[in-house]
Amino acid sequence: MSNIRGRFSKPADKLAGQYTTSLPVDQRLYKQDIAGSIAHARMLAKQRIITQTDARKIVDGLLAIQKEIELGKFQFKPEMEDIHMAVESRLIEKIGEVGRKLHTARSRNDQIALDIRLFTKEAIAETQKGIRALQKAMLEMAEKNRAVVIPGYTHVQAAQPVLLAHHLLAYFDMLQRDFERFNDSLKRVDVMPLGSGALAGVTYKIDREFVAKALGFSKVSKNSMDAVSDRDFIIEYEANAAITMMHLSRLAEELVLWLSVEFGYIEIDDAYATGSSIMPQKKNPDVAELARGKTGRVYGNLMALLTIMKGLPLAYNSDMQEDKPGYFDTVDTLQTTLTIFAGMIKSVKVNKANIQRALGRGYILATDVADYLVKKGAAFRTAHEIVGKLVNYAVSKGKTLAELDIKEYQQFSPLFKADVLKITIESALAARDITGGTAPNQVARALVAARKIVV
Ligand code: ARG
Repeated sequence: MSNIRGRFSKPADKLAGQYTTSLPVDQRLYKQDIAGSIAHARMLAKQRIITQTDARKIVDGLLAIQKEIELGKFQFKPEMEDIHMAVESRLIEKIGEVGRKLHTARSRNDQIALDIRLFTKEAIAETQKGIRALQKAMLEMAEKNRAVVIPGYTHVQAAQPVLLAHHLLAYFDMLQRDFERFNDSLKRVDVMPLGSGALAGVTYKIDREFVAKALGFSKVSKNSMDAVSDRDFIIEYEANAAITMMHLSRLAEELVLWLSVEFGYIEIDDAYATGSSIMPQKKNPDVAELARGKTGRVYGNLMALLTIMKGLPLAYNSDMQEDKPGYFDTVDTLQTTLTIFAGMIKSVKVNKANIQRALGRGYILATDVADYLVKKGAAFRTAHEIVGKLVNYAVSKGKTLAELDIKEYQQFSPLFKADVLKITIESALAARDITGGTAPNQVARALVAARKIVV
């Protein structure tokens, strides 16, 4: 058994041991821990710090331990402080004295920094896959419904008509920024910290670049004190995750609204909804609501880590061990939400009749009528006022703008001619023919561009 209590005259208090151990949380890093140890042992042998024979025994022992863990045969002993001690002490149990050489020229401080960086690189790749899958689902929904027009909203008030595809591609673009944000942060994760030792570097002639290469890192850290006390890359993941979840939460809110009887724009598969224990008619959009709720927890994890780090002097402090529960929770929550949302979006059915009904309400062509007056010579502010009065009149008659006749229009301005009646949803869409606008040809182009991103 490895023992790092040489300095002490008695064992740790039982409750204190339970309080300080991170094993239940960081056992999830076993693969990264073992990969790091294998690279380290090989480097030690290459540098003749240990013999090739010893390195081989260590590597074989570590691989055997990995198998034990994966077969569920490894005993995670509660008295172990963390995954590093659990693996090392099992190694010593298995191969004896030689196992005690593995930790030469290394500290758990640079070891955990390595493990969590390896984990983060994988987490980013996996998260980006999830983002792409959801982008694809959004895009497919947009392509499938390319002719569907919905009222666009501001202040949750019907504003102007837009293509549903245009609305969906707005989420596609948000997710694209999320994808890129994770990419940007990757270069700061891709730094190999081993060799920093406890804080000041190590006294052996090690080859840090060899370890970096073996583990797939493109750089080694430049300052040992920074390397063992830097958790920026976790904070960055958590910040990126918070932004992505904010986007998913907005989408969730959209789905909740659209699934309500009052909107009724869409239906989702029963698999993504739950019933009420009392009201038999209910089909609650639970998945969307919980995503909105979980977003709060993901924000909380970011705040927690920023707070953990803010008062820490250099270099390593045990406070930093508290980075992991919230971090793993954030990674899991984000990845699961992305996956579930992709499935849920794929199951969406659009209810065109309800959307059609909504399009007739809300005077969503009023801006186009004002623009009509401008094109006939009115100043925009004047046109705005005239159409405001026109809408007020229509409301009082219980009519839509389309139901007014030309005489009624002309009561408000002599600039109105019969062609004002030609303003339709279709003409309003087609008129917004500028880059980024909702005109069908612009949206068709945006769909093609989006296809190139997700293929
Ligand atoms: N378990 C620690 C963590 O997760 C790593 C060990 C750090 N070193 C120490 N002396 N406690 O951050």
